Amino acid sequence: MKCHIGDLYGMGQKPITFVQQVAAICAYPELLQSASMPEDSKRKAQSILQGLEGFGIGGYNLSYISYSIPEKVAKFIERRDGGIPSNPRNIVTYHGATLCIRSVMGLVATNEPLKTGVLVPVPHYPVYTNALVLADVVKVPYQLDEGNDWVLDVQELRRALQEGREHCIPKVLCIINPGNPTGQVQSRKCIEDVIRFAAEESLLLFADEVLQDLVFGAGHDFHSFKKVLFEMGPKYSSRVQLISCFSISQGFIGEYGLSAGCIEYVNIDPLVMDCTTNTITPGHPTVLGHIAMDILMAPPLPGDPSYHSFMEEKQRTIESLAENARLMEEIFCQVPGIYCSPIRGSMYAFPRIDIPEKAVKQAQEEGMEPDVFFCYKLLEETGVILAAGSAFGQAEGTYHFRLTFLPPKKKLKTILQSIKDFQKKFLEEYS
Ligand SMILES: Cc1ncc(COP(=O)(O)O)c(C=O)c1O
Repeated sequence: MKCHIGDLYGMGQKPITFVQQVAAICAYPELLQSASMPEDSKRKAQSILQGLEGFGIGGYNLSYISYSIPEKVAKFIERRDGGIPSNPRNIVTYHGATLCIRSVMGLVATNEPLKTGVLVPVPHYPVYTNALVLADVVKVPYQLDEGNDWVLDVQELRRALQEGREHCIPKVLCIINPGNPTGQVQSRKCIEDVIRFAAEESLLLFADEVLQDLVFGAGHDFHSFKKVLFEMGPKYSSRVQLISCFSISQGFIGEYGLSAGCIEYVNIDPLVMDCTTNTITPGHPTVLGHIAMDILMAPPLPGDPSYHSFMEEKQRTIESLAENARLMEEIFCQVPGIYCSPIRGSMYAFPRIDIPEKAVKQAQEEGMEPDVFFCYKLLEETGVILAAGSAFGQAEGTYHFRLTFLPPKKKLKTILQSIKDFQKKFLEEYS
């Protein structure tokens, strides 16, 4: 029973029909004649096909990916941020947010007189570790406050920055909001504090906002860094450098298989932008990936035949995740030795587990991290697959696992019950 990766469809959530229909028609335009396709799916596909260069999705379609898509992304960002302007020339698409992250780390890497440092949260999605290693930049970890619902504390950023400056030149501050693996959503006040800190310390902000659609904690809203930055006035908006990224694989649309991500650059030197312009590179999404992005950026509008079903499917996914998150919190708070912070968004949780000393010793004898040992034992006994916390980073002496609450409710209940029963036995066996 898998619940270790954030693969929306792979875990049993239902795809968004409009995306499938439009992508299918674009791939096989004969479907424009099919009575089974709604009129607005055909209209959307037709408008996309007209923007392609006559060869359908098989061509390079440079003007579609270099001009049409950035324009649609910019309009989406403007709508999301209450009209704050977004320039399509500052938008670049990649084959998923993973490559956005790698590209930015590659851009900031230097090694004279010291290597570039990048502040990353602990815990963090492991893609950051890989991107930093590949770019040969130094990880400067800052700890999210688990005791305080994984809040990001500026004092901790200050401590980490000071420590980082002893062995590298920290230039970038990464924030993952909503959080993977923690499921936290940072407050507006926290974002303002982080922006002030970045301004004081001349740090480039890298805001990973790929999970922005998935916020459901009562009283917790998603605030984009771009919006907050501009609402803080020209003192900040004219000079703080911000790069934010977005992806079609992690929101309610969950098109991991089509894979496309994009970046918006704010206050970045045009010379840097020249290195990142939209040309065909191995990092580029496929035309079908761009089409899925197109639909997300310009979805059906009120009055369109697919509007209601699109909105219903979107809501269904978000509500099912919200319900699953509540179920998980409810079950875990009954389990001795498992502590789960409230989940405000995303599709992930990062509960802390007690691992008795005897189990820690046995794990060490077997050459494993204690949380990996826990996850192996759980897998052997129950068939449940979790991701061990050590892959994400965790405070010294604490152990966690990450799970996604994507599986359908009934299956998730079985999974949670298995973890609950296992933990009880595990504590008895090793205490
Ligand atoms: C926080 C975060 N950033 C980036 C990514 C990578 O996104 P993509 O699948 O578009 O490469 C993920 C995927 O899980 C993620 O959760």
